[in-house]
Amino acid sequence: MCESNTAGPRHVACIMDGNGRWAKARGKARLFGHHAGARRVKEVVKACPDLGVEYLTVFAFSTENWKRTQAEVAGLMKLFRRYIQSEANELLSAGVRVRFIGDRVRLDPKLVKMMDQLELLTSKNDKLHMTVALNYGGRDEIGRATKRLASEVAAGRVKPSDVDETTLARYLDTCFLPDPDLVIRTSGEARISNFLLWQSAYAEYEFIDTLWPDFTADIFAQTVSRYGKRERRYGAVVA
Ligand code: IPE
Ligand code: IPE
Ligand code: MG
Repeated sequence: MCESNTAGPRHVACIMDGNGRWAKARGKARLFGHHAGARRVKEVVKACPDLGVEYLTVFAFSTENWKRTQAEVAGLMKLFRRYIQSEANELLSAGVRVRFIGDRVRLDPKLVKMMDQLELLTSKNDKLHMTVALNYGGRDEIGRATKRLASEVAAGRVKPSDVDETTLARYLDTCFLPDPDLVIRTSGEARISNFLLWQSAYAEYEFIDTLWPDFTADIFAQTVSRYGKRERRYGAVVA
C-alpha cells in the first residue's frame, strides 16, 4: 500500500506554537502573541482551498495548557470567544465548515454555546473542513473514547470480540475526519505535545523554526509543497 504524493496533503494539522516567545521578543505580554497568532489562522484558512487542502485542523488549547497562569488562560478563552464572534460570517461565506474536538466539559458554557452555534451555522459548508482542537489532548481523547466504548460493551450493545481499531476510532472526537497527512509544528520544538496521537500514526511531520505569529500563507504554501517530495510507504517496501 504505497502512495506517491503527486497530490498535495488532503488533511493538514498545525501545532501553532511560539506565540509567547514572539511576544516576549517584542517586550509584550504573552497575550499579544496569541492575538497575532489568531490573525495568522485566518490567513492559513484562506490559503487552504487553492493548495488543495480539504481538511485543516489547528491546535488551539491543550488539556495541559490549564497549567498556565489564570490570566493567560482567561485571555485565551476570551480570544476564542472573540474569534468565533468576529469570524463566523466570514467563515460561513467562505464555505468553511467548522468543528471542534476536545473535552467541552471543562470549558465555559458560554463558549461551548458559541462553538455549538458555529458548528451548526457552517454545517452545510464543504469547501474546507476546519477543525479546532480546544481543550484537546490525545490521551484524554483516547481515554474518553474508551470509557464510552466500555459502557457500550457493559450494556451489551457491542461485543468484546468486535472491539478493534476501527471500532475505537469511531468513538474518538475525530470520527468524522480522515487521518492527517501532514502535521506542521512551528517554533522549532520537535515534539507533538499530545496532539492527534492516534490519528498521526502515519502522518508526515514538518518541524519549522518560524514562530506561529510569523507563519505567513507563503510559508504555509512552501511547507505544503515540500510534502509532495515525500514518499509514504506505510511499512511496505517500494519497488
Ligand atoms: C502556542 O504558543 C499557543 C498555545 C499553546 C495556546 P505558546 O503560548 O505555547 O508560545 P510559546 O511556546 O510559549 O512561545
Ligand atoms: C502545544 O503547545 C499546544 C498548542 C499549540 C495549543 P505547548 O506550548 O503547550 O506545548 P509544550 O508545552 O511546548 O510541549
Ligand atoms: Mg508553546
